[in-house]
Amino acid sequence: MPNEERNDLNDLKPSRQGSSNAAAAALFVQDLAVYYPAGRGKFVHAVDGVSFRLHSGETLGLVGESGCGKTTLGRAILGLAPVTRGTILFEGRDISTFKGEALKEHRRHIQTVFQDPYGSLDPLMTIEQILSEPLKIHHLCSGRKERSEKIAALLHSVGLDPELAKRYPHEFSGGQRQRIGIARALSLDPRVIVCDEPVSALDVSIQAQVVNLLMDIQEAQGISYLFISHDLAVVQHICHRIAVMYLGRIVEQGSTQDIHDQPLHPYTKALLDAVPSLEKSSGARKIFLSGEIPSPVDPPAGCHFHPRCPFATERCRREAPVPTEVSPGHTVTCHLCSPEKSRSL
Ligand SMILES: Nc1ncnc2c1ncn2[C@@H]1O[C@H](COP(=O)(O)OP(=O)(O)O)[C@@H](O)[C@H]1O
Ligand SMILES: [Mg+2]
Repeated sequence: MPNEERNDLNDLKPSRQGSSNAAAAALFVQDLAVYYPAGRGKFVHAVDGVSFRLHSGETLGLVGESGCGKTTLGRAILGLAPVTRGTILFEGRDISTFKGEALKEHRRHIQTVFQDPYGSLDPLMTIEQILSEPLKIHHLCSGRKERSEKIAALLHSVGLDPELAKRYPHEFSGGQRQRIGIARALSLDPRVIVCDEPVSALDVSIQAQVVNLLMDIQEAQGISYLFISHDLAVVQHICHRIAVMYLGRIVEQGSTQDIHDQPLHPYTKALLDAVPSLEKSSGARKIFLSGEIPSPVDPPAGCHFHPRCPFATERCRREAPVPTEVSPGHTVTCHLCSPEKSRSL
């Protein structure tokens, strides 16, 4: 039972190796699982044993179809989803040990930008009030004057005229509202921002502006982003590294170049094949996904991807593959994906 597992793991200290290796990582996530009760003794395996690092100042993309657990993973990192199993270290410290002031401080350092800025901005508050709130809660300004100056600087940093601070969210366009959402996330000088589909609701022309803004902010401030998206094209543009998620598990991770030039997992290849491209087809056999992502309630045994994988073998149906590093930093979780074998896929 997941709850029992949780109790056992509460007592586990992060391993020495985990702590020391994680020192350079803003986030170190190991074997993280989030299971939600689904009635009759069943569980939604929203996140099912995920491990990755997010280095300081980098952008890690998390891609995968809707329902594969991206948002739940982001919420677990923010301390907002119940962790069933596994460890999350923020700058080397286990976040499950944070209580009271330490938890408040953690929430300050890891912020989020949502897909729908309109839904996350209180329509009855002015932009100044919205941006003041976190500053007051965390006592970051000594008085009204300092707060106004900080808000003006925040609006300026996201490309908005500080004069607009007295206006309400409905007076802004979608792109401007997302800029306000970013300003709010930045207000507490975070070290990590979980960006959950931050441009998916915006017009394509506006998407690029917001992506560029996020990249500029990272360059200036050295913030790390976990950039969640179902849009591989956007992710390839903004991310240093990419993790591909399928039904609660990471099936492949590597540098953006590795994933683009040498995808190994059949699911990664299928996602890439689905991205519209003006480049000439290489003539390589394309992989098209049929069927829908299966239910995370009682996911398939063995490799979660096997029911949709054109190459699945008996072993894939029976035995879950473990992540294997095929080249430095490039990891794939597939029985058929040693670099030699994958060339023939
Ligand atoms: N609070 C919850 N209770 C029960 N099931 C949930 C909850 N949140 C998410 N889920 C389920 O977990 C799975 C992963 O959801 P989510 O993390 O939102 O995926 P994604 O962001 O990749 O679309 C889905 O099947 C979803 O229905
Ligand atoms: Mg989501």
